[in-house]
Amino acid sequence: MKVLVTGATGFLGAALAASLEAKGHQVARLGSRNCDLTKAASLSAFDGVRYDQIYHLAAWTQAGDFCLSHPGEQWIVNQQINTNVLAWWRDSQPQAKLIAMGTSCSYSPNLELVEENYLDGTPIDSLFTYAMTKRMLYAGLLALSRQFGLKYLCLIPSTLYGPGYHTDGRQMHFIFDLIRKIIRGKLYGEPVVLWGDGRQARELVYVHDFVAAAMHLAAGVDNELVNIGAGQEHSIRHFAALICDEVGYDFERIEFDTSRYVGAKSKCLSVAKLGRLLPDFSRTPLDAGLKTTIEWFWSQREKLFPETEAEQAAA
Ligand SMILES: NC(=O)c1ccc[n+]([C@@H]2O[C@H](COP(=O)([O-])OP(=O)(O)OC[C@H]3O[C@@H](n4cnc5c(N)ncnc54)[C@H](OP(=O)(O)O)[C@@H]3O)[C@@H](O)[C@H]2O)c1
Repeated sequence: MKVLVTGATGFLGAALAASLEAKGHQVARLGSRNCDLTKAASLSAFDGVRYDQIYHLAAWTQAGDFCLSHPGEQWIVNQQINTNVLAWWRDSQPQAKLIAMGTSCSYSPNLELVEENYLDGTPIDSLFTYAMTKRMLYAGLLALSRQFGLKYLCLIPSTLYGPGYHTDGRQMHFIFDLIRKIIRGKLYGEPVVLWGDGRQARELVYVHDFVAAAMHLAAGVDNELVNIGAGQEHSIRHFAALICDEVGYDFERIEFDTSRYVGAKSKCLSVAKLGRLLPDFSRTPLDAGLKTTIEWFWSQREKLFPETEAEQAAA
């Protein structure tokens, strides 16, 4: 197949593009350098090929408080990116199935995280703009499918983890931040301080499991919104204890700062629909996934754990 992947330079996109290529597909990898999606004309460079699938992963966001401090820019940039990709799909690639990424943040914290509720209620305030641009992306898929008969799939990942994350100093998703802090504690004796009492629960999906599920669903399921989650959540304490075991750091030395805000107590996607669509979907056990993720951290030690301030500035 001929496949175009937007966001192919990102954490998920790099893993997806490599898996597609390993299966023998011809993959066009797009990032902001070779195709700035805020500019509609940049996609015309890819008009010459008729793609079978378009995976649309590109989004302008980061973990931590990024969404809280950039809501206006995020609205403009992500609306431009999504509108340009959807317009190009309709005008130049209507034969392709478009597989887009939503986010669990789009769900209202007051409703069950089940697909029927994706457009209902109000997303959490701190992620409101990002969440709403993802809802609008889904609304665009529905609209183009309804009017022009285009085929889509909208996938909602829970937090992804695994090797190949960013090393450029940006804020990290919670599990990477946890690993980074515990390794720093081990290497430099820095205190490991976690926000909250550690009893808040989260779920994780190993990035390669997500890629496998996405590719299977893309092959056989049309015009659906599907959550891809672990089906099970764990406390931050549990994740920390597993990481401590693997890194060789005493869990009892971790301090919990209960004065800090940590968001929802619990957040777990319903995976009933995924279970019906992909009954054989197998997940990497958490301890095995964390092991390979931690090994990747050690392989990036020079970039992620510079010893001196000068090295930190250079990293
Ligand atoms: N990671 C998760 O846990 C998670 C969870 C739920 C949903 N998702 C969704 O999954 C998708 C991929 O996530 P990710 O973690 O891989 O994100 P990521 O690492 O931040 O990658 C974002 C990608 O978007 C590209 N991009 C940003 N602005 C662009 C622009 N103006 N033009 C073209 N490309 C642009 C980036 O290109 P450059 O590298 O050139 O900047 C990069 O390839 C996103 O849609 C995200 O919302 C991720």
